[in-house]
Amino acid sequence: MEYSARSGSLEKQRSQCIVVPVFKNNEMSAQAKKLDAASQGQIRKILNRGDIRGKSGQSLLLHDVHNINAQRVLIVGLGDRESIDTTRFINAVRTVITRIKPLSITNMICCLTDVPCGDKSISWKTLRQVEQFENGFYQYLDMKGKSAAEVETAGNTLARIDFFTSDRSTMEEIKNGISRGAALAEGLALAKDIANTPANICTPAYLAEQAVQLACRFESIEASVLEEKDMDEMGMGAFLSVSQGSEQPGKLVILHYRGTDDSVKPHAIVGKGITFDTGGISLKPGAGMHEMIYDMCGAASVLGTLATIARQALAINVVGVLAAAENMPSGVASRPGDIVNTMSGQTVEILNTDAEGRLVLCDALTCIEKFEPVSVIDIATLTGGCVVALGRVATGLFCNDDQLARQLSEAGEDTYDRVWRLPIWEEYQPQLASAFADMANVGGREASSITAACFLARFTKKYRWAHLDIAGTGFQGSGSNKGSTGRPIPLLTQYLDDRAAETE
Ligand code: BES
Ligand code: MN
Ligand code: ZN
Repeated sequence: MEYSARSGSLEKQRSQCIVVPVFKNNEMSAQAKKLDAASQGQIRKILNRGDIRGKSGQSLLLHDVHNINAQRVLIVGLGDRESIDTTRFINAVRTVITRIKPLSITNMICCLTDVPCGDKSISWKTLRQVEQFENGFYQYLDMKGKSAAEVETAGNTLARIDFFTSDRSTMEEIKNGISRGAALAEGLALAKDIANTPANICTPAYLAEQAVQLACRFESIEASVLEEKDMDEMGMGAFLSVSQGSEQPGKLVILHYRGTDDSVKPHAIVGKGITFDTGGISLKPGAGMHEMIYDMCGAASVLGTLATIARQALAINVVGVLAAAENMPSGVASRPGDIVNTMSGQTVEILNTDAEGRLVLCDALTCIEKFEPVSVIDIATLTGGCVVALGRVATGLFCNDDQLARQLSEAGEDTYDRVWRLPIWEEYQPQLASAFADMANVGGREASSITAACFLARFTKKYRWAHLDIAGTGFQGSGSNKGSTGRPIPLLTQYLDDRAAETE
């Protein structure tokens, strides 16, 4: 999709569709008034018929309005003008997408940028629109048998969206929002493509290859891959206990994004990259197991975040890690009851081989100590319990530092990629007690997301650390919306953006 900023007289714009907002009780926006005046009251007359009342979620499509050069006018409700918040603003954009998707149009003018939305800037409103449009029109077509051209023409035709402003002086801000939005969309699309790729193709080696390719695309990114023998030498017994059961060798991928002076300590983002999670010997039930191709969404979000910040040339240093392995049952897979050594020196009794995410992550989290990171965020589809607790709306946040928790919560609110903090209090730790080892890898049925985080907390004492459980938010496993969401890339890029701004 192409985006640009546009200004001028709205009624004269040649376009296949103009999107204009109306508010509660059909209070007209400045743009709606412009069109209404040009059409000599036709818009007001139609609004007064009552088919739309300006409520959030409502919309009305008009064709051939008098004296207006655009073919169509799409009126979108935003509710009470004074109280529009992020949720309502984004919902309006989503309503637009639902309405225009079935239309055979190639271009459109959107007038949502001037809508008041709390203290949000024009740049923010543009960025969020680009993100939503790209998200709404995203398709994963790599696996379709038909020729690509045929598939595409069967789908979307829209190729160009202009963001209209009545105030010429805001054109630059709109352009800024477009380029930030395009950078984010690039990262999101990369992560979604990788996450949606089935596990027979998206293996740990494939993930490592994607990292290498990313490093080829951006001079600021460098990738290196640790093989199983390297990890063995480093003492990563927990990681290897997971990858040993698979024919696919595990990989620990380390990426460096260098956006500023080498002496500046990096932030670290560490992604769970289980390319398929069968549960291992503690085998998962068959129904729904296919969803476990998405057990590498954390790793994909690390790649997507790095792509976005590299595109923006953020002045910050970031280490990205992909803990990539496949969790399979086999003759050489680890058994329930096995005890392994972690790189940290602590031992773990594997009581359930399906709690494999924490096993690959704990060694990855120890391995990055050497970079002396300012903050470490791990991203993982870690527990089914998190989906039970928070559904598909909020990502679970667990954190050993209140300031970091606040910074992440703020970045989540700002990007509408929200998190909700859960505790990792000491009182939960006894659930991980093991008779023979330093800890068990599971803490029982109660508070399973929390005990998973408590397990990781034992490996992250040396730095400021947050854990994001994206089991509910990283993907939708089935149904019409099946696919990776790309979350929490918007949150992570905003967090890093904010940190870069602090040091400027
Ligand atoms: N990858 C799963 C968690 C998961 C489940 C993510 C559903 C997304 C949707 C993870 O490896 C797992 O199996 N977790 C277990 C842990 C349990 C054995 C302590 C779980 O949550 O049931
Ligand atoms: Mn599992
Ligand atoms: Zn898993």
